[in-house]
Amino acid sequence: MRKLKYHVASTTDGFIAHEDDTWGAFLQERLVKDSEHIADYSASFSTYGTVVMGRRTYEPGLKMGVTDPYPMMETYVFTRTMKESPNPRVKLVSEDAIGVIRRLKEQQGKDIYLAGGANFASMLLEAGLVDEVVLKLNPLLLGSGVPLVTRLRNVSSLELLSTKVYKNGVVLLRYAVLPEGAPGTNPALLPEMPPAT
Ligand SMILES: NC(=O)c1ccc[n+]([C@@H]2O[C@H](COP(=O)([O-])OP(=O)(O)OC[C@H]3O[C@@H](n4cnc5c(N)ncnc54)[C@H](OP(=O)(O)O)[C@@H]3O)[C@@H](O)[C@H]2O)c1
Repeated sequence: MRKLKYHVASTTDGFIAHEDDTWGAFLQERLVKDSEHIADYSASFSTYGTVVMGRRTYEPGLKMGVTDPYPMMETYVFTRTMKESPNPRVKLVSEDAIGVIRRLKEQQGKDIYLAGGANFASMLLEAGLVDEVVLKLNPLLLGSGVPLVTRLRNVSSLELLSTKVYKNGVVLLRYAVLPEGAPGTNPALLPEMPPAT
């Protein structure tokens, strides 16, 4: 069974893009110049055989003429509005997204890169299909923007697998998504308060 990993860059306050879908803050010189985290991100591509994303994640690149953003991976874009793929390598999926992802996971091969965005990843989290969240936390506060996840009906409990702190302050956090009802995820009784003296 291949793992589905939501691998995403976020600000410290949990936004993955500005409100207008741009990423200016993530491109600050101090965060990108000679950056080891970018080299690690590029190296991670060799661990993925397939990439899946929502249409709004695919579109910004497309507007810049990039029709095949991950040529080293089998590529699926989920959309009900795009009718024709701009690139023969990029497959559009309009129906049964959950079934398609389930079948992709059942195939043999390298893991699946869930590139985003919030809307598409949240739908897959709710369906219990996301195995890991790989979070590249950037030392930035935006206050508003596109959130990491949205509209989750249930809490997704995460178990920390590893951390890596980069010199520029970016922190890579790798989490496993715990199944619903996993041990320890029920609300604990609060310890009794000491009596007032
Ligand atoms: N920082 C990062 O690492 C990172 C990574 C990824 C994305 N982003 C940012 O996140 C933003 C996009 O995220 P988002 O949440 O707005 O959008 P999104 O999740 O990328 O895409 C949403 C779209 O996906 C399609 N979709 C969703 N569920 C579907 C289903 N069940 N079946 C078929 N199609 C489905 C729909 O497309 P249609 O409307 O065409 O039907 C929907 O409008 C952008 O600003 C992007 O730059 C940042």
